[in-house]
Amino acid sequence: MLTKSSGAVPELQFFESVDSTNLMLERADRSSLPDFTAFVAASQSAGQGRLGRTWISEPGSSISLSLLLRPKDLERKSWLTLMMAASVRATVEALAPSSAPLIKWPNDVLVSERKISGILAKAIDQEVVLGVGLNLKTQPAAPETAIALEELGCILDFDDVLFELLTQFRARYAKFQSDAAWAISDVAAEFRKNSATLGSRVIALLPGGSKIEGLAIDIDTDGNLLVESQSIHTISAADIIHLRN
Ligand code: BTN
Repeated sequence: MLTKSSGAVPELQFFESVDSTNLMLERADRSSLPDFTAFVAASQSAGQGRLGRTWISEPGSSISLSLLLRPKDLERKSWLTLMMAASVRATVEALAPSSAPLIKWPNDVLVSERKISGILAKAIDQEVVLGVGLNLKTQPAAPETAIALEELGCILDFDDVLFELLTQFRARYAKFQSDAAWAISDVAAEFRKNSATLGSRVIALLPGGSKIEGLAIDIDTDGNLLVESQSIHTISAADIIHLRN
């Protein structure tokens, strides 16, 4: 079971069904687990999404993965979300070369403007639990704005897809651990090249309830989104709506 993927990480724990892989990892005795431990589930009964939303993961329909990370450069840990988004994007492109996947800042991967993957990171002291859901099959309960790998006509072997994802992330994370500035400039370049957000008019719904409408022009050195309306707004967290240009 998961023979290939198990070789891509120091420790992999697989669960047929859990409430949430992020919660499993948060509750675990993490002191006994090595950096880059993977918790993987075939289904979740209470998958967590951003902003208190639910992430649907019906049996066999998606990969639910949570990684335990111990970033050496804690000041730059917020980049891990975009790093995972870049890794998922590269995974989808490797599996379905003509699908043209794009990153929606800060944590989604889209194909044809529909969401194939979402990412949820939680920092706990010096550690980060980095969760990612990747849709394999169309789920009846999922919103119409979702898309799955099966719709792109690509292979759906759970172990093969997970192995590709872990391998993509491992390369970027290893670089981050040895030279964070170098890794970040690469991730920023990947984002700029493959962004669904930059160059779009957006509405940014801010955590406090206010909103900013403008043109998404770039990210800064901290990975914040820069939105130009009358002035340039630096956005560190928001729900982004893409408007038709
Ligand atoms: C989002 O798009 O809102 C983020 C979704 C994150 C879902 C993943 S699935 C694996 C991990 N465990 C969870 O409970 N959530 C994340």
